[in-house]
Amino acid sequence: MHSSAQQRSQQQRSHKQSTQRDTSDQASLAAGGSPQSELRPKPTSDPPRRHILTFNARAGRSRPKHMDALEQLLPRYEIGWDGVSRLDVESLYGRKAPLILEIGSGNGEATAALAEAEPERDILAVEIYPQGIANLMLDAQERGLDNIRIYQGDAIPLMHHAFGPGSLAGVRVYFPDPWPKKRHHKRRIIQPDHVARMAELLEPGGTLHAATDWAEYAHHMLRVLQAEERLENTSAGFTPRPDFRPMTKFERRGIDAGHEIFDLIFQRR
Ligand SMILES: C[S@@+](CC[C@H](N)C(=O)[O-])C[C@H]1O[C@@H](n2cnc3c(N)ncnc32)[C@H](O)[C@@H]1O
Repeated sequence: MHSSAQQRSQQQRSHKQSTQRDTSDQASLAAGGSPQSELRPKPTSDPPRRHILTFNARAGRSRPKHMDALEQLLPRYEIGWDGVSRLDVESLYGRKAPLILEIGSGNGEATAALAEAEPERDILAVEIYPQGIANLMLDAQERGLDNIRIYQGDAIPLMHHAFGPGSLAGVRVYFPDPWPKKRHHKRRIIQPDHVARMAELLEPGGTLHAATDWAEYAHHMLRVLQAEERLENTSAGFTPRPDFRPMTKFERRGIDAGHEIFDLIFQRR
C-alpha cells in the first residue's frame, strides 16, 4: 500500500507528464481553443464556443521578459487543458481541498499572497497575459507555494466545461477590465450569463468575491449579482474593503486616480 507522500509524488509526476505532453498545445489553449493533438468527447451541454471576449486579445501575444523562469516553472504550475474535458482537480494538486477559481489574476500579487495566507485552500488562477503568469510563478516559487495552479487562457470556456456544479468553494474576480465604453459593456465578465454559471459552480456557502474601482461597473455588478437568485449578498449593498484582500497594482492605480474601491461578496444559497 502506498503512503500518502508516495501517492502525492506519483500524482505530481503524472500532472507534470500531462503538462509536458500538452506544451505544444499552449498557443492554441492560450486563445481559449482546443489542442490539435488529442480528440476528446464533446461535453453534453453546449456552452458558448464563439463567445464575446472579455479581454484584449493582444494581451496573449506579448513575450514575457522572464522567459527562462517561465520555461522552468511551467511544468510545476501551469495546467494543460484540452478545451472540453472536466479537470481532474485532485490530481492537479495531489490532494482534495476547497478550490478557488480566480479569473484574471493579472500579475498575481493577490493570488500569491492569498494562497500563502490560506494553505488549506487550492487556487486556480486564470490569466491570458503571459508576463503576469511569469510573475505569479516566480512569486509562488519564492514563497514556496504548492497550492497554486495556473491556466493560461480564457476563463469563460474553462468555467463552462472544466468543473462540475457545486465544485468550487470560491470565485474571485478582482479588478476585472471595466470596459467603460457603452458599446464594450458586453465584454464585461460580470454579466448575467457568466454569473449564472459561477453560481452553478459554487458549493452551498461558497463565495463570489468581486472588486472594482470603476463606480459605474460596481453598480452594474451589484444589480447583476442581486438578480441571481442562487446568490445572497453578505452585506446590505457593497462590502467594506476586507483586510484580507491584498492590494494590487490595479487597485493602487485606481486609488491614486481618486477612485473609490467597491467590494462585493455574495454567497451561494
Ligand atoms: C485589470 S486586470 C486585474 C488583474 C488582477 N486581478 C489585479 O487585481 O491586479 C484584469 C485581468 O483580467 C484578465 N482577463 C480578462 N478576461 C479574462 C478571461 N476571460 N480569462 C482570463 N483572464 C482574463 C486580463 O488579461 C487582465 O490581466
